[in-house]
Amino acid sequence: MKNSLPVETIKSLIRSAVSGRERSYSIYSGFSVGAAVLTDDGRIFSGCNVENASFPAGSCAETVAVNKAVSEGAKHITAIAIIGGKAALSPSTDSYTFPCGICRQVISEFKSPDGAIVIVARNEDDYKIFSIDELLPGAFSGDSL
Ligand code: THU
Repeated sequence: MKNSLPVETIKSLIRSAVSGRERSYSIYSGFSVGAAVLTDDGRIFSGCNVENASFPAGSCAETVAVNKAVSEGAKHITAIAIIGGKAALSPSTDSYTFPCGICRQVISEFKSPDGAIVIVARNEDDYKIFSIDELLPGAFSGDSL
């Protein structure tokens, strides 16, 4: 899938991911993540990682953002921006944060028929773009069931 999003849309998605990250509850890992999804009806939903003293009960930022969108009626996701790292106060030292395997599966479930792009960002001027199909080749999907 080719990225057809205007640069301004990408930057605004990254800014939403940055805002999401500010709400990260990551007191155990110290690794804060923000994500923002763009739905095919033009809405943006942000999310952050939400950890728990019982570690497996925590959620990743991407999954929170996708589930927020779907629970608000969105059917498809066309893009997701992700920003994260340990250095919340000096983001310039953070490297790109890629979605974990489970989040790739979650994003894939709700990708639009034209696919979805994944924007991994260090800031709104420094980002890389992948398609979800590139990040999760041979994805398991409902078509298999
Ligand atoms: N985390 C995310 O939110 N997204 C990812 O794709 C990778 C990991 C979170 C989970 C946990 O709160 C922290 O980062 C360290 O793994």
